[in-house]
Amino acid sequence: MTTPSNQPDGTAQELDQLRRNAQQRAAIDDALVALFAPEDDALQAALAAGRAADMPAIQISPLQGRLLQVLAAACGARKILEIGALAGYSGIWLARALPADGKLISLEVSEKHAAVARASLERAGVSDRAEVRVGPATETLPALADEAPFDLVFIDADKPGYPAYLDWALKLTRPGSVIVADNCIRGGAPLRESASGDADPSIKALSDYDRRVARDPRLRSVALPMDDEGMDGFAIAVVLAGPSTGQ
Ligand code: DHB
Ligand code: MG
Repeated sequence: MTTPSNQPDGTAQELDQLRRNAQQRAAIDDALVALFAPEDDALQAALAAGRAADMPAIQISPLQGRLLQVLAAACGARKILEIGALAGYSGIWLARALPADGKLISLEVSEKHAAVARASLERAGVSDRAEVRVGPATETLPALADEAPFDLVFIDADKPGYPAYLDWALKLTRPGSVIVADNCIRGGAPLRESASGDADPSIKALSDYDRRVARDPRLRSVALPMDDEGMDGFAIAVVLAGPSTGQ
């Protein structure tokens, strides 16, 4: 790129540096995925099945999938609850973190998406430990009391539902359980001071979710920018044995 004569030299140099930084970040991301979270045929087939069914490509990233597995290992997960199955991509990551006699229950509002997710889980060889239940989560969640406590809950569904899903996650877990929610950063909108009054119900709900997990004395939480070039990411909360001091 040539420097326009009316701009100081620094501008073109700065743009060049920004471009190099972006390329470097992308190369680092590729290397991290190749080292820690390579996708096998079953994961790639789940992505292809979602595309073939005209589903939105809004699944988690491979590194997020790997992080879910690390968290599942850290809390010794034997029972995992997922809210929002989509095409089964995250379900494969989660089910693979379970022991052979473990159980993933994935709740999905759409019958069509559930069928795609079941086929993806079957192809991955984990349908013995992974079940997709169809219906609005507000109806399927109350039926889970007998199967609780879950060691890990992963929330990645309709955003306005997040505060209610957090209520259920707290009911259906135990001290030491991990509650993870996707899309808690969303370009920063839920973190703005005014977000609790936002006209967009998704932003309002995500703001409510973030503030609650940040401040609830039953939880120790963090949100990490790790997806969409740092524009989005998980909120991760651990259920504490006793109230935290807040520090
Ligand atoms: C949307 C939903 C998601 O869960 C996500 O990760 C990205 C986008 C959406 O509804 O737009
Ligand atoms: Mg998501």
